[in-house]
Amino acid sequence: MTALLSVEGLAVAYGHIEAVKGIDLAVDAGAITTLVGANGAGKSTTLLALSGLIPKSGGRVLFDGEDITGLPAHRIVQRGLVQVAEGRATLTTLTVRENLELGAYSRRDRVGREQDLERIFTMFPRLRERASGAAGNLSGGEQQMLAIGRALMARPRLLLLDEPSMGLAPLIVQDIFRTLAALNREGLSIFLVEQNVRQALRLASRGYVLETGRVVMTDDASALMVNPRVREAYLGG
Ligand SMILES: Nc1ncnc2c1ncn2[C@@H]1O[C@H](COP(=O)(O)OP(=O)(O)OP(=O)(O)O)[C@@H](O)[C@H]1O
Ligand SMILES: [Mg+2]
Repeated sequence: MTALLSVEGLAVAYGHIEAVKGIDLAVDAGAITTLVGANGAGKSTTLLALSGLIPKSGGRVLFDGEDITGLPAHRIVQRGLVQVAEGRATLTTLTVRENLELGAYSRRDRVGREQDLERIFTMFPRLRERASGAAGNLSGGEQQMLAIGRALMARPRLLLLDEPSMGLAPLIVQDIFRTLAALNREGLSIFLVEQNVRQALRLASRGYVLETGRVVMTDDASALMVNPRVREAYLGG
């Protein structure tokens, strides 16, 4: 099977510090793939580089077989590689609806945008109820839903998420992960970066373990879940 996203030897440096040291990844179409790792492993750096938001110092990125290594961020979004903003970076003074509409800024198809908005409101009823309210008044979980909704408005073919569980209560995390599973069942491919290794491996079909900028393990998520080294380092033994 050819990967939807294929990453070869990706390297990213901040000044002379190499945060990502030449990693290979393959993200299959229709699947949920996860990249897990501890604090400072280089997970966010990897996503930002894939999205074209920070420069790469080496390597190649193929999306649907096409080389997107050097494309600017907005072109990468237009291709369908869309990242959910980290830390739920919603624009707090804008309304919920305005935040969602921003996700579709590069699209010209007004009817399609309206349909997608309706679909997102159906998926997240709380966002519909609060559509005209300021996004800043949403709870943490609702803001994460809004960030996902906004990314969906760009019609992603692959959704990239950076620790969507961060700072949320366990029940809300369950909600978010259920939403991701539902989106995946509808055919959306997902690349999920997480520090919450247990939940991420439970959701994903394949996993990569990142340690100080290197991929140290990759396997089916179910195999990683029972791998002694993974259990010892990330799952409390
Ligand atoms: N803007 C920056 N300038 C310099 N170094 C940075 C910068 N951003 C991150 N780093 C360093 O790069 C390394 C990888 O950081 P990164 O944020 O990618 O890790 P992470 O896996 O996302 O961690 P976390 O789980 O805490 O979000 C760390 O050593 C970090 O200190
Ligand atoms: Mg991070």
